[in-house]
Amino acid sequence: MQIGVVTLFPEMFAALTDYGISSRAIQNELVSLEFWNPRNYATDKHRMVDDKPFGGGPGMLMKTEPLVASIQAAKEGVRQGPLAQAIQQAKVVYLSPQGKPLKQAHIAELAKRPNMVLVCGRYQGIDTRVIDSEVDEEWSLGDFVVSGGELAAMTLIDAMIRLQPGALGDEGSAVEDSFANGLLHSPEYTRPKEFEGRKVPSILLSGDHEAIRVWRLKQSLGSTWLKRPDLLGLLTLDGEQQELLEQFINEYESRNPIQL
Ligand SMILES: C[S@@+](CC[C@H](N)C(=O)[O-])C[C@H]1O[C@@H](n2cnc3c(N)ncnc32)[C@H](O)[C@@H]1O
Repeated sequence: MQIGVVTLFPEMFAALTDYGISSRAIQNELVSLEFWNPRNYATDKHRMVDDKPFGGGPGMLMKTEPLVASIQAAKEGVRQGPLAQAIQQAKVVYLSPQGKPLKQAHIAELAKRPNMVLVCGRYQGIDTRVIDSEVDEEWSLGDFVVSGGELAAMTLIDAMIRLQPGALGDEGSAVEDSFANGLLHSPEYTRPKEFEGRKVPSILLSGDHEAIRVWRLKQSLGSTWLKRPDLLGLLTLDGEQQELLEQFINEYESRNPIQL
């Protein structure tokens, strides 16, 4: 996967290129990142990359011409990259609080693309005409505002890297992640077997793989019911899942009777 990133702060991406799973995936060429800095496309002597908004108001916007030039250079760069022969035109994605909120299912679709250009906004954002002329899609991290698109782009890239074949040490990990099947992950335990008086559930020590599968599915359903009931509303449970969820709820309610 080839990703061109338009950003005023390419150094921030060291968080991806220098650490952990994402760093390994980049070294192993599962993903290539290339950076396009609008400052390099500024033509005035001070290399300005911000400008005042028409109509007044607080803050600045990204200066239009260097931003557009860097987006077009990123598109061209991705088009000429090592995967070029395979590929349709890279979609331009603007990370924006006004975009569609990203969910794991969206990430799974985006992760299949061979290429894309990510645009990181700064200041109060970018001129609406640039969105109209250059941007194909807007995606958001959620209903809150951060100071720049870099953290959002890094989050998206990292989540897509986890889904690239060969990126994770254990291929099963991403399949079992929370949200992959619409549920939260079941509770997890590591050594010691007893920690501050709390024991690991004995079933996990039993070596009985089928019993462990059923226990994990039940806990996963139960955790989702307790923490994110909205997710359950989006799923159609099969017979086994329905039964395990009912068991979990009954056991939970008998341990936590409603106080009248
Ligand atoms: C301070 S924000 C601008 C917010 C803008 N004035 C608004 O209210 O919609 C600067 C940049 O951060 C990025 N950003 C902020 N919040 C985001 C979010 N929730 N998801 C994705 N990107 C975000 C965008 O690239 C945005 O252009």
